[in-house]
Amino acid sequence: MPAPPTLLEPDLLAADPAGLADVGRLVTELTREAAGALRRRSGPLPALTPQELARLLDAQLPEGPLPRTGGGRGAVLALARSYAANTVDLADPRAAAHLQPPSLSVAAAADVLASVFNASVDTWDSGPYAVELERRLVRSLTALTGYGPEAGGVLTPGGTASNLQALLMARDTALRARRDIRGTGLTGLAVQPVVYCSELAHFSVSRACAVLGLGEDAVRPVATDARHRMLPGELDRALAGLGENEVPLAVVATAGTTDYGSVDPLPEIAAVAARHGVRLHVDAAYGGGALFSDRMRPLLAGIEAADTVTIDLHKTAWQPAAASVLLARDGEDFTATTGLRVAYLNPDDDGAAGYDGLLGHSLQTTRRADALKVAATFLALGRDGIGAMLDACHDLARHAAVTVAAHPQLELAAEPVLTTVVFRYLPGTADAPADAVNGALRRRLLREGAALIGRTEAAGTVRLKLTLLNPQATKTDIDEVLTAVAEAGAAVEKELS
Ligand SMILES: Cc1ncc(COP(=O)(O)O)c(C=O)c1O
Repeated sequence: MPAPPTLLEPDLLAADPAGLADVGRLVTELTREAAGALRRRSGPLPALTPQELARLLDAQLPEGPLPRTGGGRGAVLALARSYAANTVDLADPRAAAHLQPPSLSVAAAADVLASVFNASVDTWDSGPYAVELERRLVRSLTALTGYGPEAGGVLTPGGTASNLQALLMARDTALRARRDIRGTGLTGLAVQPVVYCSELAHFSVSRACAVLGLGEDAVRPVATDARHRMLPGELDRALAGLGENEVPLAVVATAGTTDYGSVDPLPEIAAVAARHGVRLHVDAAYGGGALFSDRMRPLLAGIEAADTVTIDLHKTAWQPAAASVLLARDGEDFTATTGLRVAYLNPDDDGAAGYDGLLGHSLQTTRRADALKVAATFLALGRDGIGAMLDACHDLARHAAVTVAAHPQLELAAEPVLTTVVFRYLPGTADAPADAVNGALRRRLLREGAALIGRTEAAGTVRLKLTLLNPQATKTDIDEVLTAVAEAGAAVEKELS
């Protein structure tokens, strides 16, 4: 048996010339194994229950993923085979559950290069090109958003992280006026901080408030209209009625709610926020992709009035996770909140001489060169290329809505705005409660590995959801998924009644 390679072999260092060739060979072998496993698959998920999958891993990795002695390339190739056979296949047109797109090959390949060189963007000398690339990428995105030259931004590990950082900025900006609270939190302040968002805002807003020491009680949900958009009049009334010790830190508008894709009326909300002197953050984690599309862009009219904006390029720009970006109309907001000089990373005189990284923009220290995959994608496809992908998914959502509306056993919850379609299966008899049937039919599809659809709640009842982010899926694919849903519904109904 050949001796397993050891870490002392120079060709195992990815960025060595010989190592780089080895990466190329390994990627070729791994992708070949993965392709073979993919060909044998029959759906977007493995046809396994969670318990069966756990048993499979126990059998495949009896010592777990950390054996005493390494198994060399063979072990890696076996892992690649199992992974490709049993992971989610988002390129399967029947995968339509979450805001998790199939990633583009150009982005995935560029991401390999980011791993090879392992640059970090916290300091200039940890990754000079990556630092400059991120600066330029941010500039392109601030311009796309409609911001001026003083705007700034940073890539973050997700929409949750971007929203957290936006609310950190809001907290510090609002309370700095009362005293310098930076680094001291809110201890001792006899005020109740308040953050407004719609009742359909993402839970990361309340999580951010908890993390920032504001408490989840700081979040005041504002009612939405029949089209799932925040009511600006309600927001206005709430702000006007604030108590003496209540300090409004921010209004968070959502541009693309997770379930409905609805976009809060940004110009009206911006006007209310401005009238009350409150910061505005727009969570466009999902809807931000509309900026790339001429057809969809009007949905985001007014976004440039926001102080900060979250856009998730790992949702509607088909990037491997994660590639979120937090943009600020005034780039100084970063300096005021996360600006930091650390002796061993970015001392003043290095900074003055231009040797400055992005440490002061981020809550992270070591940070991947995520700009590389995004820039590679944008350079390859251009804004129009990404926009066309979103338009294609929007077309699929409209088709799905028409099909659902025409189906006797399915009920549409709302007209699609972006690329999601919320609906449910209507049981034929009262013996099988709708909630139980809809929950069970989704699990049945998961268990069979036949289709991967989402689930949510509306008006206290279970709904199903298609999140359509595969621009190569066809209308026939969508019809097949909906047929599978109706068939699974009928089968479950029979079991339950
Ligand atoms: C509107 C909205 N904001 C924020 C997030 C959180 O994004 P992430 O999962 O990248 O943290 C999501 C996730 O779906 C979302 O839909």
